[in-house]
Amino acid sequence: MTADHVLSTVRAEEDAQYEAGLRPRSLDDYIGQDRVRENLTVAVTATRNRGEALDHVLLYGPPGLGKTTLAHVIGNELRVPVRGTAGPVLEKPGDLAAILTNLKAREVLFIDEIHRMSPAIEEILYPAMEDYELDIVIGQGPSARSVKVPLQRFTLIGATTRAGLLTSPLRARFGIVHRLDFYAERDLVEIVTRSGRILGVPIDAAATAEIARRSRGTPRVANRLLRRVRDYAEVRADGAITLEVARNALTLLEVDEQGFDEADRRLLHAIIDKFGGGPVGLNSLAAAISEEKDAIEDIYEPYLIQAGFLDRTPRGRMATARAYDYFGLASPERHPRLL
Ligand code: ADE
Repeated sequence: MTADHVLSTVRAEEDAQYEAGLRPRSLDDYIGQDRVRENLTVAVTATRNRGEALDHVLLYGPPGLGKTTLAHVIGNELRVPVRGTAGPVLEKPGDLAAILTNLKAREVLFIDEIHRMSPAIEEILYPAMEDYELDIVIGQGPSARSVKVPLQRFTLIGATTRAGLLTSPLRARFGIVHRLDFYAERDLVEIVTRSGRILGVPIDAAATAEIARRSRGTPRVANRLLRRVRDYAEVRADGAITLEVARNALTLLEVDEQGFDEADRRLLHAIIDKFGGGPVGLNSLAAAISEEKDAIEDIYEPYLIQAGFLDRTPRGRMATARAYDYFGLASPERHPRLL
C-alpha cells in the first residue's frame, strides 16, 4: 500500500460534510466544547508565536463530536497542512515510516482511531513522537543493526472513541489531552442555525430547536438530520423548514422525541424484554440484537448512558426506570409483584 493511498483514506460521511462546507475552519467558528476550545486557542497561539511545532494532541470521546474537525481546525490555525490516516489502515511499519519521513517541520499528522494501531506500528511512534526520530532495524538475526533517521518536528493529533484502550506509553506521549463531551442543546441550536445558513435553507427557530433536541448531543447527527429534513421540505412541502415539516420528516426517518433511532430502541427493548431489564453482559446483548460489540460500546451506549436510559454496572448493562417509562412499562422496582 502506498503512503498516498493510506493518506487519502477519509470517511465518506465526513467528506460529505466537509464538501458541503458545514465544518468550521477556525477556533472562532467552532461552536461548543468551550473549555477545549479555549485551551487549544492558548496552546496554538503560544506555539505559533514561538514558531514551534505544537505538542502532540490526543482527542477522545464518542463519535461525531468533532475530533476530526478539530484536527483540521488546529492545522488551519497553525497554517500548516494536515495529513490524515487511521489506525486500522496502517498495516506495515513501512506505511507509517513513509508518512513520517515525508512530514515537513510543524506539519500535522492526524491518526483517527489511534487505539486500533498494531503494536509494531506503535513502536515506531514512540521515538518519532518523543525524539523526532525513527529507529529502523536493517537486516535480520546477528547482523541486524538499528539505524536512526531524523524527522522534522511535527505534531501528531490522535483521535479515539476509546481512550481506555490506549496503551499507557502511547498516552503518556501526548502533551495536550482533551475529552469531547456531548453538546448542550443551545450549542446544537447554534450549529443547526449556522448549517442552515450555509446550506441556504429557510428554517424557523422552532424547527431549528426541534432538530437540535433530537440530535443525540451530536453535531454530525444534527447536520445529517438537517440535510434529510431539507430533502423532505423540498419534496413534500414548499422548501421551507417549519416545525410541522421538521416533525413530519423526523417521524418518517423514525427519529423519535428523544432522538433515538431504531437501533437505540432495539437495544433498550432487548435489555428489558429478553434480559428482564439486566444486568446483561455485552456479548449476550450483541448476540441478541445482531450488532457488533464495538458499535454498541462506541456508538449507542454513550448517549443512552448520558441521557439516563442505561446503566453500565460491574455485572452488566441495565435498563433504568426512565427506559421503562419510555416504553410505557412499569419498571421492576415499581412492579406490584416485586413490592
Ligand atoms: N459543525 C459540526 N460541528 C461543529 C461545531 N462544533 N461548531 C460549528 N459547526 C460545526
